[in-house]
Amino acid sequence: MNFIRKNHFSTINIYRNNKNKVRIDKFSINKEETGTMVLDALIHIKNNIDKSLGFRRSCREGICGSCAMNINGKNKLACLTPIENKMSIYPLPHMPIIRDLIPDMKNFYKQYKEIKPWLQNNKTTLSENYQSIQDRKKLDGMYECILCACCSTSCPSYWWNSDKYLGPAVLMQAYRWIADSRDTNTKERLEFVNDAMKLYKCKTIMNCTNTCPKGLNPGKAIGELKLKIENELH
Ligand code: SF4
Ligand code: SF4
Ligand code: FES
Repeated sequence: MNFIRKNHFSTINIYRNNKNKVRIDKFSINKEETGTMVLDALIHIKNNIDKSLGFRRSCREGICGSCAMNINGKNKLACLTPIENKMSIYPLPHMPIIRDLIPDMKNFYKQYKEIKPWLQNNKTTLSENYQSIQDRKKLDGMYECILCACCSTSCPSYWWNSDKYLGPAVLMQAYRWIADSRDTNTKERLEFVNDAMKLYKCKTIMNCTNTCPKGLNPGKAIGELKLKIENELH
């Protein structure tokens, strides 16, 4: 009986950062009161123990990407990660911190904007812009990206060069539009990423793919992007 009761409790160490004053706070929670996921625990702590705890969340079902954080040493979505008995929670690594578990995503979104993540088509036609089932399938495994940045912030190349290296999330999105049969700006898109810093800082370590909480494979997309550049620009 005691054993069962004990297993309901979890000790959670949480990184706190208020105006660059850093500390680790320890919280004890009863999983029976919180719900099952790490995000449930954080919401419980904020509502009942320490209302100053800062973290992002929105959908609480793995769709918005906003609850990405480093949980027990791995970048994950808090809403999809079950509570364990002992946990350490940090913000996504090597990002500037706004407060507590809230990283500053400005550079990440700036880089995303740079790859022009929208359909560009210079053909003037009033008819349907048809895409075959086979061509549509080429986007599978890329369009599902929720831009959580778990992959980019697990990448050593991105840690040290995030001002110039685009990182796996943004590179996979660049390739998502390059691989889209309806887009007519393929050459310009390839030329934009064909750069020693923007693309070739990727050293194929594959942390990105091992980390993605949606099971996507940005490392493979980067490999295909490099191959396409090799075949079509060189
Ligand atoms: S393969 Fe390695 S170097 Fe390339 S983006 Fe992924 S983690 Fe970074
Ligand atoms: S590829 Fe995966 S880890 Fe990277 S941003 Fe997209 S969903 Fe997140
Ligand atoms: S809250 Fe939206 S992905 Fe976790």
